[in-house]
Amino acid sequence: MNLTLKVWRQKHASTAGRFVTYEAKNVIPDMSFLEMLDVVNEGLITKGEAPIAFEHDCREGICGSCGFVINGVPHGPRRGTTVCQLHLRAFKDGDVLTIEPWRARAFPVVKDLVVDRAAFDRIIQAGGYVSVPTGSAPDANGLLVPKADADQAFDAAACIGCGACVAACPNASAMLFTAAKVSHLGLLPQGQPERDERARGMVAAMDREAFGSCTNMGECEAVCPKEISIAFIARLNRDLMRATFRGRRAARETAGV
Ligand code: SF4
Ligand code: FES
Repeated sequence: MNLTLKVWRQKHASTAGRFVTYEAKNVIPDMSFLEMLDVVNEGLITKGEAPIAFEHDCREGICGSCGFVINGVPHGPRRGTTVCQLHLRAFKDGDVLTIEPWRARAFPVVKDLVVDRAAFDRIIQAGGYVSVPTGSAPDANGLLVPKADADQAFDAAACIGCGACVAACPNASAMLFTAAKVSHLGLLPQGQPERDERARGMVAAMDREAFGSCTNMGECEAVCPKEISIAFIARLNRDLMRATFRGRRAARETAGV
């Protein structure tokens, strides 16, 4: 099959970018999208041109490194699929595909399709951890977790931090990512000691970055390759409200009023 690619090319964060058209000729429908870009890049390198920069690592849909927008949709047209797991059979012979990086102020373009997602790291640093003794693995039944909580925590923990939710949101909000990270620890017994601090800290960190506010558009859930539910956003809002009230009460008690 043959595809026409209109790819965003940008040398550095400080230079202007533009779309450049490439032909992907005689590519195989069973190739992954990234394999097709590898083939295009081999052709560019052979001609002495700079290859298209894009991020990837596992190519198995588990690490969260890959991600760009294909024809306006983060990770492309297949629901619940990262771009590394997307195959060319999802497209038709002769299709014209526009490929561009995540567009969000909090994710500045580094080069071509690569964006800087360090803002997500700073949100995690603000509370995405538990302060419990680590070491050898505890007995599986040493700390009982209700099945429903374990299942929900597992669903939230599936977030791979790819950033597609931010790219799809008209406000470039990071609420789905933050909600998943706050929830997966907040649902487990090990996450209780820092639950309030975590919700307050991570939301404050998110607000400090250039992400927009959530207005319940639902675009994040629609493009999330791990199908994280926006119900976690409602859960985060409840956790944050609880943490805020408890924080104020504790401050009043400390002040003796
Ligand atoms: S919530 Fe989904 S789209 Fe957002 S970072 Fe996590 S895996 Fe990616
Ligand atoms: S390269 Fe790891 S999720 Fe795509």
